[in-house]
Amino acid sequence: MINIAVLVSGGGTNLQALIDAQASGILHSGKISLVVSNTAGAYALERARKAGIATETILKKECGSQAAFEEKLAQVLDSHGIQVIVLAGFMTILTENFTARYPRRILNIHPSLIPSFCGEGFYGLRVHQAALDYGVKVTGATVHFVNEIPDGGEIIAQKAVEILPGDTPEILQRRVMEQAEWILLPQAAETVCASMLGGE
Ligand code: GAR
Repeated sequence: MINIAVLVSGGGTNLQALIDAQASGILHSGKISLVVSNTAGAYALERARKAGIATETILKKECGSQAAFEEKLAQVLDSHGIQVIVLAGFMTILTENFTARYPRRILNIHPSLIPSFCGEGFYGLRVHQAALDYGVKVTGATVHFVNEIPDGGEIIAQKAVEILPGDTPEILQRRVMEQAEWILLPQAAETVCASMLGGE
């Protein structure tokens, strides 16, 4: 099985979807063996502990610089033998120094249909606010490989979600999670791990 690390910053509902997918067998070609948070006390860490998964917290301000943060992150991942990295609500941009070490081995979930409402500054509720401000009638989620361009790596999977009258960013976020993110991310993680086991 492929050794997976999930990187988180907050509530961790996408991490939970991955944990549940592992329990139900949807995710069976990889095993979540580490959860890394870049914020102290993220609820996602609690979810990991409840599932018996090892956790690490790495704070950028304690590392002193982006380069030192990424170096420490790579060290921790190496020490756990991590082969695939899943960014699940990980709210910091990784530079080429880091992403180049793991070509087609880092996945990210983004809560819009890329190339809409993505790139630097588009994260969390801001993405849904932007979609509502623009007035689009359909949004969704995208899983993509991570490279040096924020939200610019190759797309693995996308799913559309309707925007309804009266939607707030919070209501829309929840619908996109339920109808797209929590389904798409575990499926994409399985696809990537399975193809690695198949020698691709
Ligand atoms: C999710 O909606 C995820 O797609 C988004 O943040 C939320 C995290 O929720 N990620 C981004 O905006 C990345 N640019 P979670 O912690 O409950 O999984």
